[in-house]
Amino acid sequence: MADFRSDTITVADARMREAMASAAVGDDFYGEDPTVAALEAAAAALVGKPAGLFVPNGTLANTVAMLALTVGDQVVVHADSDIQMWEAHTMAKVAHLQTLPLPGARGRLDLDALRRCLSATDPYAPRPGVVAIENTHSASGGSAWSLAEIAAVADLCAAHGVPLYCDGARLFNAVVARGYTAAQATSRCAAVAISLYKGLGAPMGSVLCGAPEFIDRARTLRRTLGLTFRQVGHVAAAGLVALENVASLADDHRRARLLWEQLDGVLPADVLGDPPETNILALRFGADAAHVVDLLAAQGVRVTEVVPGVVRFVTHRDLDDDAVTAAVVAMRSVLAREVR
Ligand SMILES: Cc1ncc(COP(=O)(O)O)c(C=O)c1O
Repeated sequence: MADFRSDTITVADARMREAMASAAVGDDFYGEDPTVAALEAAAAALVGKPAGLFVPNGTLANTVAMLALTVGDQVVVHADSDIQMWEAHTMAKVAHLQTLPLPGARGRLDLDALRRCLSATDPYAPRPGVVAIENTHSASGGSAWSLAEIAAVADLCAAHGVPLYCDGARLFNAVVARGYTAAQATSRCAAVAISLYKGLGAPMGSVLCGAPEFIDRARTLRRTLGLTFRQVGHVAAAGLVALENVASLADDHRRARLLWEQLDGVLPADVLGDPPETNILALRFGADAAHVVDLLAAQGVRVTEVVPGVVRFVTHRDLDDDAVTAAVVAMRSVLAREVR
């Protein structure tokens, strides 16, 4: 099987396993796990924030962050953001915050809609408490924000005293694609969460980064939500190796582009769309999408229908150029069966 479902399906390589096995550990509840401390410091330094907090995944990172940051009742997000669509309603059910989903092309927040909601003054209406951007934006095909686009949102947030948060589960894909540093991309954000297991190869783990007071609050909230780490340095060690894998994301981007180029001419332009900016290729098959997913699986190529009508290929470190070739061969065979 060539598995293009997600960049989370990678397994730890030998180097990572060796780091995990030999990690120095201690009880993190007492702040005594040196490898966790090293990971939190390394991740924070990479995104230019003073402090970090190790959490198991992106969903918990986002939930804790929204609870720690909010100055109101609403989390303002993109309508196709992970927070809005795929985090099992944690904002409503756990954080007791309402999401306000905004429209916008390629995962950007429509600035007029954002301005309107931040300016609302009705005392009985929910108050925007935090604005969350997603960089890269998964559902739009891994689209990477420009610094100017981030600044435009940040300016509005600052004008209304609402903190800006970055769901940076794939921030390093944006860094590699855009050529800015992670610190530049998040300098206007009060906090950012990065993932160690999306494209970077770790078995789990995200790091929430921000000001020391924010991280103190987040640490308490992490426990409120039921999570205490003990000798988890074994996992943090994998995270430290993962942070060294950032440059290799360029290979994933090259393979996504190669896949797009090899499908150019095979698929109609409206299905293929624009070349991928990072590691996600989103093909618009419309009503045929579920059928295409099944037919590709029968050919040994696994993909997902990420949003209705859209078939998603995600490249990652456990796929090589042969997997791209296999995907193209499978797609030709699917088309021969007269899908579309
Ligand atoms: C952009 C983004 N943020 C957050 C998450 C949540 O991560 P997890 O599902 O591992 O908790 C995902 C998951 O795919 C994601 O794509």
